[in-house]
Amino acid sequence: MCGIVGYIGGQNAAPILLEGLTRLEYRGYDSAGIAVLGAKGGAQVHRVVGRVRNLAAALPKRLAGKAGIGHTRWATHGPASEANAHPHTSEDGRICVVHNGIIDNADTLRAQLADAGVTLTSETDTEVLAHLIARSGAETLEDAVVAAVSRVTGTYAIAVTDSAHPDRLVIARNGSPLIIGVGEREMFVASDLAALVRHTSQVAHLDDGEFATVFATGYRTFTVDESDTTKPATEIDIDAEDLDLGGHPHYMAKEIQEQPESVERIIRGRLDDRFGVARLDGLNLTPRELRGFARVKILGCGSAYYVGQIGATMIEELARIPADAEAASEFRYRNPIIEADTLYIAVSQSGETIDTAFAVEEIKRKGGRVVGLVNVVGSTIARACEGGVYLHAGPEIAVASTKALTNMAVGFALIALALGRVRDLSNADGQRIIDAIRALPGQIKSILDFEPEIAEHAKTVAAAKSLFFVGRVRGYPVAREGAQKFKEISYRHAEAYQTSELKHGPLALIDEELPTVAVVPRDELTERNLAAVQQIKARGGAVLAVTHEGVDFGELGVPRIVVPKTEPELDPILLTIPLQLLAYHAALTLGYDIDKPRNLAKSVTVE
Ligand code: F6R
Repeated sequence: MCGIVGYIGGQNAAPILLEGLTRLEYRGYDSAGIAVLGAKGGAQVHRVVGRVRNLAAALPKRLAGKAGIGHTRWATHGPASEANAHPHTSEDGRICVVHNGIIDNADTLRAQLADAGVTLTSETDTEVLAHLIARSGAETLEDAVVAAVSRVTGTYAIAVTDSAHPDRLVIARNGSPLIIGVGEREMFVASDLAALVRHTSQVAHLDDGEFATVFATGYRTFTVDESDTTKPATEIDIDAEDLDLGGHPHYMAKEIQEQPESVERIIRGRLDDRFGVARLDGLNLTPRELRGFARVKILGCGSAYYVGQIGATMIEELARIPADAEAASEFRYRNPIIEADTLYIAVSQSGETIDTAFAVEEIKRKGGRVVGLVNVVGSTIARACEGGVYLHAGPEIAVASTKALTNMAVGFALIALALGRVRDLSNADGQRIIDAIRALPGQIKSILDFEPEIAEHAKTVAAAKSLFFVGRVRGYPVAREGAQKFKEISYRHAEAYQTSELKHGPLALIDEELPTVAVVPRDELTERNLAAVQQIKARGGAVLAVTHEGVDFGELGVPRIVVPKTEPELDPILLTIPLQLLAYHAALTLGYDIDKPRNLAKSVTVE
């Protein structure tokens, strides 16, 4: 959510900043801007409404300068306009600031600045930082930044330039990610690794409350009282090619297709056939500790929360421990009761979702034990948790999450296996699940082979203005995720219900205009699900079933997407895959911007 880049070194900064912003555009795309410190002094600031390509087109041909900062915005304070785009500058133009996060006391600070005679030129919270830094009276830029952020409450990752000190960028972090990339006599700054991997594999993550001065030849990190911190760079293992489209029309299409390999990666080395168990050393939990938990609580947001519901059901079924999932965004605000014998699991693709990160902090503050199921290595949530299982899904660029969610569901199957095998799950049952997990990549591949048929179904459902997605027990979170994906990128109203709840109210809405996508697996609830399909059909509603071979729809005349059968506990993993393709092709049919849906951005790092 918003992207920040910075560069200082021997090359022209503008093309590097633009390239970095293009990489970060999935983090926000309503406006963009850069500030470049020119050789002759003074900052050249350029800002536009819209995409980074608009910014590139608007830049003067010769924009020389070897240091600069850039930003791609997802609006929080004030609409997308040139005045609200970053960088924001002080009145004399000396200080430039780019910012991710939200300054909670911005209104108060704006009023104070206005009273002091400052003319504010934007509606943003960020602008106050530029004025506070310029007016701090401090002798050094570092002192000025420290003084300014000491007056703000809220979250921020900021990068600051001062045309009086063109040899440095000063950056600071509190609650929003910020990373330094170390090059050969050049340094990079970014809010996301995606902007760095083309230049370097050596990175240093700032921690909350940390500042850094970044020179072309090195960097110094320090705290608010200006004492130095030790922050050596570490090696990252992302292949820059993973960030390209690789011949696919959209990142979402690419990431859907990558799922067989990404599932291979999360299970690699983690399945132990001898004892029918999953080896999850990263959890940092002994078998005795694993056995000691009386409850499991899963926390995530959006789709990660829905997959958390899939995971809770797997854990209850395989380990027979009470488990549930809750939206981290609600949990953090409701003074939750934290129990010593509960295992808390934070689930997140980005590892930067602020609501989930705050939930983790709340659990830790109250002495709870929290582990992570996270994709991005070294991310805020991954580092805050005491242990965890990395998803190894690879970089996910499309705003609508797919492969990371599938790996989350597989990750939960591994955790359920580990918790089950220290309780009553037999070796044979453990082995049954292991065999089924191993078969998943091939089965996913066979679903992807049906893409043309699913694309045809998508054309039909895309014609509806509104639709239901329904599922029962294991199928309900599948329906929730299916509806989520659909509305996110096709902008159609899609509402998920428990199939069992239809007759308690929503059935009143069913008519020829409102189709239903029904999750109907072949399991102990098939008959109940078929009865609900019958009730929908009897009221003139069209149904598209996501189902298994062997489910008998009789004379109901229901078009079907047939998914390979796995063990019942793992069915949700495979039932979700065609719903990704359904959403993708509906959005394609409707002609929307699939990778960058309106009003959304990847990684919600603001409240
Ligand atoms: C939906 C989607 C979002 C994310 C949610 C959590 O396709 O991507 O609902 O699942 O914002 O994000 P992470 O997993 O990064 O914490």
